[in-house]
Amino acid sequence: MKFTEQLEARFADMITHYPVKRSLLVPFLLYTQDEYGYVTDEVVEELSRRLEITELDIRSVISYYSMLRTKPAGKYNVQVCTNISCLLRGGEQMLAHVHRKLGVGVNKGITPDGVFSVEEVECIGVCSWAPAMQVNYDFHNNLTPEKIDEILDEYRQKAAQ
Ligand code: FES
Repeated sequence: MKFTEQLEARFADMITHYPVKRSLLVPFLLYTQDEYGYVTDEVVEELSRRLEITELDIRSVISYYSMLRTKPAGKYNVQVCTNISCLLRGGEQMLAHVHRKLGVGVNKGITPDGVFSVEEVECIGVCSWAPAMQVNYDFHNNLTPEKIDEILDEYRQKAAQ
C-alpha cells in the first residue's frame, strides 16, 4: 500500500528517532488511524513489512490498546469505561445513557450522520474520577447523565461547524 504524502513524510521523519524500528509502532498506528479512520488490513501489512515484525505482533498491540481500532468509527468515538471503579460509580448506567441518547448500538455501528460511535471499554486510567469516558483523545470524568448530555451536544455542534 502507498501511504498518503503526509503519512509518508511522517514515517520518514519518525523512523530516524527510534533506535529500534518497532518502537515506532504505537504512535504510527495512531497517525494512520487519524488519517484513515481506523487501522486497515493494508496498514497492518505495510507496517509489518516496514518495521520487520509479524502482522500477528501488530494485531496483538492493536487489541491491547483501546484507542486503536480495526473497524470504522464515527467522527467522535465515545468510549465508556465499565471497569471496576467506573462500574461501582455507575459506569454501566452511563453507557446505557450514551446508547439511549445517541441511538446507536454499543460496539456496533455509527450514527446515521456519521458523527458518533460508541464502545464499552476497559479501564482508561482515570479511576479516581470515575465514572469516565474518552471521546477520541479527550477524557471526561465524574460523569452524570446530565453531564454526558452536555458533552455530547458540544461534540455534535463541533461536528456541524
Ligand atoms: S476503571 Fe474506569 S477509568 Fe479505571
